[in-house]
Amino acid sequence: MAQLWGGRFTKKTDQMVYDFNASISFDKRLYRQDIEGSMAHVRMLAKQQILSDQERDQILEGLTGILADVESGALQITAEYEDIHSFVEANLIDRIGDVGKKLHTGRSRNDQVALDMRLYVRGEVQHTDHLLRELLKVLQRIMEENIDTFMPGFTHLQKAQPVTLAHHVGAYFEMFRRDRSRLKDIYERMNYCPLGAGALAGTTYPLDREYTAQLLGFAGPTRNSMDSVSDRDYVIEYLSALATVMMHLSRFSEEIIIWNSNEYRFVELDDAYSTGSSIMPQKKNPDIAELVRGKTGRVYGALMGFLTTMKGLPLAYNKDMQEDKEGVFDAIDTTEMCLTLFTGMVDTITFNKEVMEASAKNGFTNATDVADYLVNHGIPFRDAHGISGRLVLKCIAENKALDDLTLEEYRQECPVFEADIYEAISMKTCVERRLTLGAPGEAVMRQVIDENRAYLDKVCL
Ligand code: ARG
Repeated sequence: MAQLWGGRFTKKTDQMVYDFNASISFDKRLYRQDIEGSMAHVRMLAKQQILSDQERDQILEGLTGILADVESGALQITAEYEDIHSFVEANLIDRIGDVGKKLHTGRSRNDQVALDMRLYVRGEVQHTDHLLRELLKVLQRIMEENIDTFMPGFTHLQKAQPVTLAHHVGAYFEMFRRDRSRLKDIYERMNYCPLGAGALAGTTYPLDREYTAQLLGFAGPTRNSMDSVSDRDYVIEYLSALATVMMHLSRFSEEIIIWNSNEYRFVELDDAYSTGSSIMPQKKNPDIAELVRGKTGRVYGALMGFLTTMKGLPLAYNKDMQEDKEGVFDAIDTTEMCLTLFTGMVDTITFNKEVMEASAKNGFTNATDVADYLVNHGIPFRDAHGISGRLVLKCIAENKALDDLTLEEYRQECPVFEADIYEAISMKTCVERRLTLGAPGEAVMRQVIDENRAYLDKVCL
């Protein structure tokens, strides 16, 4: 048991209590942030003449050594320390002696952990943003290559109107682009430094909080010391953004699972991204997509769990807040792993373009266009809808497509039809005439793709 406290205690901590209280098994992940934060703190203390330059340099050297040794594996972070803060401080004192005991001047573990977690989440926000951008690049390539790959668009999972693969994938491009903009908002809102808030009420030392904030790349210091040590809004916002990313990945996974089914055969997954069955030799399963869909649950769980942890906490720091770590780390690992694998899977997918196009042709996806043709010839839309519906009924009875009916058959239903009906309801026309902004028509689709390219050229967070 290596603890930073004990002066006012007369008895040893019960072992089970110690274990229950300790966080080293999971907060060891914060070692870099903890050391970085300590280095900035020490630089600020020396600038304010609370420590001498010589003391600063000794402490910095000690901290640099600890960081290097942890990274090389020479120094193990073990369970004998209560948390990562105790580990770093105890090791520093071991290395440089009594000067090390000055590190914690004007600081509490409450503002220290608030800083560590903020630095960690800030880095992960950037990393998630990078992974989303990589996925968007793959989606952009698929869009560029499939402006004229026709497929059915669905509502209620029923064939509705023809679209293109570029257009369908473009919908996901928008979702993941919004995810990035959420991360940008979070980054800007959270980028303030809590260090210097002390335990809750600041400190009597003349700290320069602006300076510490600047050293650590923050926009400035936080504005209320009680809020600084007890604010975990940014964790909740980030979890919410991750849950939304997972929801998007899960929807896309669901589509890939459907498209990969024997009935659809719209796509073929790469062998490297599929798995087999232990009993059925013919199987090639979309396990990656299924796992991404399935893992969405635990990320939602982390969000709900931590929202619940925070809901009854009085100001300021409470130990409940230590629960901002395990579930959150798991949600981050899960989402980032899913993003990486999903990107690889989509990048290597083969689209069966002929199957997609044939599917769009045989589901009456041009029935709206039959009605639109009549509207263009002066028939009110409601009547045109009825005529087109009766033609569909006839086709179903005779097992035909709308394109197969003779002009005579069209005219029996409505004399307005002319020979140009066939061209008007061809797949190509159906898609190409859809030129409202955001529609699948080639001209507007190219515009969107050009904008995407400019957007992707811009740097990450
Ligand atoms: N392990 C604690 C956490 O993660 C560090 C802060 C401890 N502060 C305290 N007053 N016990 O929240």
